[in-house]
Amino acid sequence: MEKDKRFVKATYEIMEQLLNVEDLDEALSQSLQTIVRTLDSKAGVIWYLDRNSDRLHSVFHIGPSDISNTSIENGIGIEGVVTKTGKSIMISDAETDPRFEPTVFDDQGFKTRSMICVPLNNSKETIGCIEIINKNNGALYEKEELELCEHMANLAAFTIDEKGLDVDLGEDKKVLCSLKDITKEYPSGDGFLKVLKGINLDVYEHEFVVVLGESGCGKSTMMNIIGGMDYLTSGTLLIEGKDYSHPDDAQLTAFRREYVGFIFQSYNLMPNLTALENVRFIAEIAKDPITPEDAIAKVGLSERADNYPSQLSGGQQQRVSIARALVKNPKLILADEPTAALDLNTSKEVLGVIQEIVRNNDTTVMMVTHNPEIGKMADRVVRVSNGRIASIKRNIHPLAAEELSW
Ligand SMILES: Nc1ncnc2c1ncn2[C@@H]1O[C@H](COP(=O)(O)OP(=O)(O)OP(=O)(O)O)[C@@H](O)[C@H]1O
Ligand SMILES: [Mg+2]
Repeated sequence: MEKDKRFVKATYEIMEQLLNVEDLDEALSQSLQTIVRTLDSKAGVIWYLDRNSDRLHSVFHIGPSDISNTSIENGIGIEGVVTKTGKSIMISDAETDPRFEPTVFDDQGFKTRSMICVPLNNSKETIGCIEIINKNNGALYEKEELELCEHMANLAAFTIDEKGLDVDLGEDKKVLCSLKDITKEYPSGDGFLKVLKGINLDVYEHEFVVVLGESGCGKSTMMNIIGGMDYLTSGTLLIEGKDYSHPDDAQLTAFRREYVGFIFQSYNLMPNLTALENVRFIAEIAKDPITPEDAIAKVGLSERADNYPSQLSGGQQQRVSIARALVKNPKLILADEPTAALDLNTSKEVLGVIQEIVRNNDTTVMMVTHNPEIGKMADRVVRVSNGRIASIKRNIHPLAAEELSW
C-alpha cells in the first residue's frame, strides 16, 4: 500500500479506537500499536506526567526493553523536554543529541537512533508524551510521520480530556525477580531450537502480571525458568538481587520449596488424599507455611475440606491446587493457564480467588493465559511473541474478576 493510503487508514483506525471505546487504557494502547505498525518501528511508549512528583511514568510500551518502572523527571531527556515545552521533537541520531537520556532504554542492550516524540496537549496543559523509536529498516523518520504522531497525540489528549483519566501511578515498586537478556535453546535435530531470544523483564513485589502470547512463543518456558523448573541457556536471572542464573541442586530445591508456588492447567491432586490432606502434604515440606486450614479457607473450600478430589468439581479441584500453592506462603505464585479447562463462571470464580491472593497477601502472581480478556484484571500485561517481550501494558484501572466476560 502506498504511504498516503497507509496514513489515512491509520488515522481512521486511531480515531475509531480512541473515540468509540469505553476502556481508555485499552484504546490508547491499541492506538500506539497502530502507530508503531504503520511507521514500521521497533518501539513505542506512552508517558504520563504525574503532577505530584513532576515525573513522567511509562504506562504502555511496545518493544524489547522493560521500562515499566522507569520514570523520568519532567524537563529531562527528550520525553521530559517535550512534556515540559509541549512541542514535538524529531531526531535522527539520538546519541549526538544533548537532550537524549540513554539510560531510559539503552541499559538493556537497545540502541536508540531515530525518534519521534510528541506531546499530549489537552485544552489546558501537557499531560505527557508519545514516543516512537527506530524504524525496523534503519531509515530515518519523515515529516509526514511526525504529523501522523501529532495527529494521534491530539486525538488521544482530546479523548483523555473528554473521558477524564484519573491516573494514580503509585510509588516505585520493589523488584522481586529480574530477567536480563535470557535465552533458552533446546537441542533439535543437528542444531538448536532458539525458544527464548533475549527476554528482559522485571517482576515486582505484590503485583499481578498476566502473560499473553501465541501458542509456542515461549510463555511456559519463561515461567519454568523463573520457577527453577528449567535452566536458562544464557542471560541472568536475579531473585531479590541474588543470582539464580545457574543454581546448584540444593539452591534449586530450597528455592522451589520456599519461594514459589505453582498452579497448572491440570490440578495434579493426589486422588487418595482429601482436599485438606492434599494441602497439608505440601505444608509439611514447606519452610514457613500458613496452616492448611487457612489455605483451604482462603480459597473458600472449608466446607469441602474432607472431600476427595473425585467428589469435587473441576473448579473446586483447581481451588485446592491454588490452596496448595498458597499454603507455602510463597513470595511468587506462577500459574500456567489455570483456567483453561474451566467454563466461564468457574473460571471467573477461580480468577477471583487468585486476585484476592494478590490483593490480600504479600504475594506476586504471574499468570499465563490465552485469553486477552483476563489481562484486564492484571496490574501489567506482558505480551510475548516469538521468544521476545513484544509489549508491556500497565492497567491504570484493573478490573475485578467478576467484571470480565468472554
Ligand atoms: N523440552 C523441550 N524440548 C524441545 N523443545 C521444547 C521443549 N519445551 C518446549 N519446547 C519448544 O519450545 C517452544 C516454546 O514452548 P512453550 O511451551 O514455552 O510455549 P508456550 O508459549 O507456553 O505455548 P502454549 O501457549 O502452547 O502453551 C515450542 O516450540 C516448543 O515446542
Ligand atoms: Mg504453555
